Amino acid sequence: MKGIILAGGAGTRLYPLTMVTCKQLLPIYDKPMIYYPLSTLMLAGIKDILIISTPTDLPNFERLLRDGSDFGINLSYKIQPNPDGLAQAFILGEEFIDDDTVAMCLGDNIFYGGSLTERLIIAVNNAEKGYATVFGYYVKDPERFGIMEIDDSGNVISVEEKPKQPKSNYCITGLYFYPKGVSKRAKIVKPSARGELEITSLNEMYLKDGILKAQILGRGFTWIDAGTMDSLTDASVFVQMIQNRQGVVISAPEEIAYIRGWISKDKLLESVDRYGKSPYGQHLRNVATGKFIY
Ligand code: G1P
Repeated sequence: MKGIILAGGAGTRLYPLTMVTCKQLLPIYDKPMIYYPLSTLMLAGIKDILIISTPTDLPNFERLLRDGSDFGINLSYKIQPNPDGLAQAFILGEEFIDDDTVAMCLGDNIFYGGSLTERLIIAVNNAEKGYATVFGYYVKDPERFGIMEIDDSGNVISVEEKPKQPKSNYCITGLYFYPKGVSKRAKIVKPSARGELEITSLNEMYLKDGILKAQILGRGFTWIDAGTMDSLTDASVFVQMIQNRQGVVISAPEEIAYIRGWISKDKLLESVDRYGKSPYGQHLRNVATGKFIY
């Protein structure tokens, strides 16, 4: 399975923060925002990941994450010339996906919860069997998101992008798994009233064909779309609180890679040097020297 992180957009909702720095490179407590979706895809076992961003911002992602070998993965990069919608990622990424299954995580989406890895593996397996998967999360402001209506057995009945009169409070979070052939489908998505190729229109195709599955991320789970001023701060406070109470580090791609055997101890220690005296670097040193056991 391939992975895509879409880290585009002008981030105008965060001006002036994003006038120079792009949203997905802003800090979520101790690390850049993109470390979180990167970790999510890695936890799904994905090792080939395409990062899509604007012509101005893409070089900065490359400077930060390089070829991915620090994380034991292969990273490639692609420009999205204009913010023409989330579904466009699968057109831009057609060659990269190359008739494989694919997962996409939005660059500002943070997922945290004990059952995450198991849930991701279910979605990976379903994609191999020809099903798409979306993840639902109960929100109090459904007008702001893609929304799905579900029946008592958890089957999706309808999907709608930012509905004025939402049929439910279940937001479709920014993590999507698709079977082979998603680029072909993305090409037949018609632009919405706001002129974008909506991911919700793509999901609607899978729904109509009876191959859209949904997993609900329940009350014990944390999902944050860090794209607004308040949610950006909420995300930092949340990560700080968990990390400082437990001494864990949320979404450290090098740690995930090391635990999974994707990088050697020497490689991990190279990253430790690169991160210098930062708490993030210190944590990786503890992982490498066995002082952090979880
Ligand atoms: C996008 C999608 C929306 C989804 C949301 C999740 O909205 O269009 O369907 O619920 O991401 O983060 P945006 O945040 O780009 O407005």
